[in-house]
Amino acid sequence: MYETICSPVNYGGLELKNRIIFAPTTFGLSDEEYFAKMRAIVAGGCAMIIVGDVPVGKSRFEKSLFDKKGFAWYQRLAALAHSYDCKLCAQLHQSDSNMAAMLKYVPGVLTKKITMQQLRTLLNEEVAPYITNLPQRKIEKIIHGFGEAAVLAVQAGFDMVQIHGDRMCGSFSSAVFNHRTDAYGGSAENRARFAVEAVRAVRSRLPELPIDYKLAVRQEDPHYGNAGVLESELGVFVPLLEAAGVTSFHVTLANHSSLEDTIPPANHPYFKGEGCFLKYCDEVRRFTAKPITGVGGLTSPDFVEAQLAAGRITCAAMSRQLLADPAWPRKVAAGQAGSIHRCVRCNKKCLGGLQQHQGTHCIYEKSGV
Ligand SMILES: Cc1cc2nc3c(=O)[nH]c(=O)nc-3n(C[C@H](O)[C@H](O)[C@H](O)COP(=O)(O)O)c2cc1C
Repeated sequence: MYETICSPVNYGGLELKNRIIFAPTTFGLSDEEYFAKMRAIVAGGCAMIIVGDVPVGKSRFEKSLFDKKGFAWYQRLAALAHSYDCKLCAQLHQSDSNMAAMLKYVPGVLTKKITMQQLRTLLNEEVAPYITNLPQRKIEKIIHGFGEAAVLAVQAGFDMVQIHGDRMCGSFSSAVFNHRTDAYGGSAENRARFAVEAVRAVRSRLPELPIDYKLAVRQEDPHYGNAGVLESELGVFVPLLEAAGVTSFHVTLANHSSLEDTIPPANHPYFKGEGCFLKYCDEVRRFTAKPITGVGGLTSPDFVEAQLAAGRITCAAMSRQLLADPAWPRKVAAGQAGSIHRCVRCNKKCLGGLQQHQGTHCIYEKSGV
């Protein structure tokens, strides 16, 4: 009944055992809790896990491939995934937050004069000047970091990398944040340059590595998303990224400051439907024949099967649904789709948990999933 979901596929050069991918998800949990969750997800039968926010340099905030401890941590994760015949993809990212600016707000946050919501708004206001004034040598260093991180990722056991097209790539892509007057700003071709160079940095070091690109699309009417690529500019960005070495696209709505738009709850005014971002996959399809992964509100086996079978998407990525029921792929394959705990997109304990510094969880957890 779910033949396409369960069928293997060549995803930009990487063989996947089925069409279900665990979307990049930050957890904010202890190592012990994190590995327990990851074990449940790989045992649940998905074909690949994309590890969210793997930094392209040393980091005080995230596990980094550039230090011994972080590298060993990723090695452990790769061994776990591979023991379940699950592939592992590193989402390579560079933050677009101005860390120096962040420090000046610390006293306000500590004395509770600035709320976390206000902090997000303040940091958002810093993005445009940060991106616009980033010195050339810093750009070169970051670009180089993408290549270095990919090499380390492969050494740690990752099977592919995903370039995070939101964050710094997304801010360079967007005229909302990028007001540069040099070769990285102005025309769509110039705004694509940072992302293109990040992809090339990986491709030049690893000629055979499959490279996914998280393509963050923004729309004007109504306005959603600030960083990322305008629908009308996809015809410039997609071919340039592909020529640079991208072998597949992971398509979603562009982010920035309003996480409720990229991780939409069931009562979202615009993105409340099943497969809410698939229309952007259709737009991207106009400019590439490469595999495309859809993400966003994918929970129903019937719906997912229909999109895959129609060729609208090559793979379906899920974050919250696999948090709600990691065994979704296994249950679908075993004819037990009726027993799946369906994600209700309440965002209470996943996004909510992360925002309240309690880690990413799910309302179903207590019921023994
Ligand atoms: C708790 C949580 C953390 C997330 N962390 C990341 C991340 O680190 N990188 C990323 O690109 N997307 C992240 N996302 C977004 C997901 O990858 C996905 O695009 C989004 O949740 C929509 O898919 P869904 O409806 O299947 O949850 C996160 C989502 C959630 C719920």
